[in-house]
Amino acid sequence: MQTFRWTTHSPEETIALARQIGARLHAGDVLAYRGGLGAGKTTFTRGIAEGMGLDDLVTSPTFALVHEYTQGAATPLIHFDMYRIMDEEELETTGFYDYPQTECVFAVEWSENIASALPEDTMTLTLTRTGDADREITLQGDERFADIGT
Ligand SMILES: Nc1ncnc2c1ncn2[C@@H]1O[C@H](COP(=O)(O)OP(=O)(O)OP(=O)(O)O)[C@@H](O)[C@H]1O
Ligand SMILES: [Mg+2]
Repeated sequence: MQTFRWTTHSPEETIALARQIGARLHAGDVLAYRGGLGAGKTTFTRGIAEGMGLDDLVTSPTFALVHEYTQGAATPLIHFDMYRIMDEEELETTGFYDYPQTECVFAVEWSENIASALPEDTMTLTLTRTGDADREITLQGDERFADIGT
């Protein structure tokens, strides 16, 4: 794994970056977000879905805990919000263990809360708010992402 770092200056730039990352994802990938409230995790996931070729509009899963996006592409995106997940029993209620992980891409908001349940090759994506519209974004991933710029 390597660490890649980018800076964006608007939600649109974050979506454009995420689109490039999404285009390089494949079934079995797990993207674990770190970054607090309003950091841009859901915004980023919108770009991931676009990059994967999915047609669905990504919305915040805060109340649903999980959204499945399947329209228009072969690999589904499963988008979790673990904000309220405090233990293993609650994690089971999200369906985290029921999806065929090797056939999907997982994007996990508040992954801190389920750290011990994440697969070993999970890629960590950290969003840090450095200004009203500025975000520093780092990804721990393999060389697939080396040529991505903003
Ligand atoms: N460069 C940027 N990248 C991403 N979002 C930005 C940026 N600049 C401003 N924003 C704004 O920050 C907010 C990010 O909200 P978003 O729902 O994506 O965050 P989140 O990390 O999913 O929050 P939560 O923890 O509440 O789920 C949006 O209102 C977005 O317009
Ligand atoms: Mg969110």
